Amino acid sequence: MCGIVAYIGSEQARPVLLEGLKRLEYRGYDSAGVAILNGGLHVARTVGRVRALEQQIDGDDHFDGTIGIAHTRWATHGGVTEQNAHPHRDDASNGHGIVLVHNGIIENHAALRTYLLGKGHTFASETDTEVLTHLIGELYEGDLAAAVRAAVREVEGAYAIAVICEQEPDVLIAARRGSPLLIGVSEHGYIVASDAQAIVGHTSRVADLDEEIVARITRDSFHTADLDNVQVTPRLRELEVSLDEIELGGYPHYMLKEIMEQPQAVRRCLRGRLNSKEGEIILGGLSDHARELVRCRRVVFLGQGTALHAGMLGEYLVEDLAKVPSETDFASEFRYRNPIMEEGTVVVAVSQSGETADTLAGVREAGERGALTLGLINVVGSSISGTTDAGVYLRVGPEVGVASTKAFLGQVTAATMFALFLGRRRFLSNSQSISLIAALESMPDKIERACSLGDEALRVAERHVHRDNWLFLGRGFNYPVALEGALKLKEISYIHAEGMPAAEMKHGPIALIDEGMPAVFIATRNSQYRKVLSNIEEVKSRGANVIAVATEGDDEITAIADDVFFVPDAPDPLQPLLTIVPLQLLAYHAALLRGHDVDKPRNLAKSVTVE
Ligand code: G6P
Repeated sequence: MCGIVAYIGSEQARPVLLEGLKRLEYRGYDSAGVAILNGGLHVARTVGRVRALEQQIDGDDHFDGTIGIAHTRWATHGGVTEQNAHPHRDDASNGHGIVLVHNGIIENHAALRTYLLGKGHTFASETDTEVLTHLIGELYEGDLAAAVRAAVREVEGAYAIAVICEQEPDVLIAARRGSPLLIGVSEHGYIVASDAQAIVGHTSRVADLDEEIVARITRDSFHTADLDNVQVTPRLRELEVSLDEIELGGYPHYMLKEIMEQPQAVRRCLRGRLNSKEGEIILGGLSDHARELVRCRRVVFLGQGTALHAGMLGEYLVEDLAKVPSETDFASEFRYRNPIMEEGTVVVAVSQSGETADTLAGVREAGERGALTLGLINVVGSSISGTTDAGVYLRVGPEVGVASTKAFLGQVTAATMFALFLGRRRFLSNSQSISLIAALESMPDKIERACSLGDEALRVAERHVHRDNWLFLGRGFNYPVALEGALKLKEISYIHAEGMPAAEMKHGPIALIDEGMPAVFIATRNSQYRKVLSNIEEVKSRGANVIAVATEGDDEITAIADDVFFVPDAPDPLQPLLTIVPLQLLAYHAALLRGHDVDKPRNLAKSVTVE
């Protein structure tokens, strides 16, 4: 969703800001803008891509200053127009030349707007952000930091903001609540960004801005204070992301790069966490809560999108390996359901970004109701990881492609280790644990074999890409894979696809099947294999074209399926780490054949920070 980059220092702000915005493009956006102070205030905004913004100010020396703010917007309040794009400024006729970029939502914007209209302000946009800018302007008495502190006190909702002012050309203000913001500390100045990717390459030293803290940044120092102006010491840390991790490195798309990185991603996720000799899982992040976990009576996984599907697998894994009653819920539904948190409930938030608003709110609600909260999160220092009691980082590296791939494998791997960790302290025998850990250790090599199915995926996509409706069917551990396979196809190729349990198909969706409809079955050799074969017969006899994901060496399947992706064999609970891979590749090729930009699918955002 929206992205913020701001700069103050000794170098030109424009290249830092534009390059930063380009690095944030992957998050999804529909308009962009920049403001630079150079003698006066210079603002440019555009609907569409950062490239268009860059062209708009190219060669214009008004934008040659060393302090500025920039933004990519994903519309929430007000349509996709230039007026609604950020930066917003305070009252044009009566203001102080204050400009602001904002991520989040000001929930009481209507009341604030009415108040400001009463004070004679006139608004140029429909946004909640412009209201906040005017409020800062209204409260400004020559000290921008003080005006920001006073204004955000009046705000309900979430904000991460960067603010500059014509009257204080050597000051950049940053503040946040409920939406992330980092300050990169480089030799030439400071870069404020909503995402580490805009900072990487300039410096690896960052300070995370805490909730309701306002930073006052000048060219050579920065100070942080709470809303009462009591100074706080910033927490500096080293960024673990490197430049080559966020570059394409010879791949045509991030999605393909990240699919191919999956063997290594799973290796990184497992590293140092398996003791195959003793059959033990070492999860440092959970060790302080081991006693509570031994006694836990129910595990609830929360997530959205791909993370929800990983959570469903977590549910199956915890029930199977740890014999603890478990369930999964959309964080958005859980939150408003008045959820029952009995003693011994553990709530696990699953999220790549750690910023998904619904998941954050859901896990907060669970914590307030007394549950032990855990996170399976990729982004270190994210809002969810700061909210949960403990957790397991995925360590799969930055994921740029909007359609989540390697993070899914990381989430499932982390959920598997969590289930084994729990299981080992409950009913799982030492020998069962040793054999599963050995199988887990062999998964990266097997995933590598599954990643070599690109040519088959292209061939299958070519045969079926003209079809507008697809079914994805699986049972047991492969049912969430069916959901995830369908989601991948929908997200980037815009083909309508439904995932469901293979047996459920008979209870209605079978009516959809007509001659040639693609039906993707995850039909690996496992405890439900025979049942899946019967389901395949049912759709075949009604004319569907069957695409199967099967176990290497299975000759039986070739007789009934039209196309087969063979993946290596693995124990039932580990099969999803393999069976999803050809479906990711299939979605990738289908999207390319349909001429879509797989890394920037329409309407989607990488990280959904609004409810
Ligand atoms: C968005 C993305 C999905 C992602 C979901 C959850 O909808 O487009 O790809 O699965 O958010 O994101 P999270 O960061 O919480 O895993």
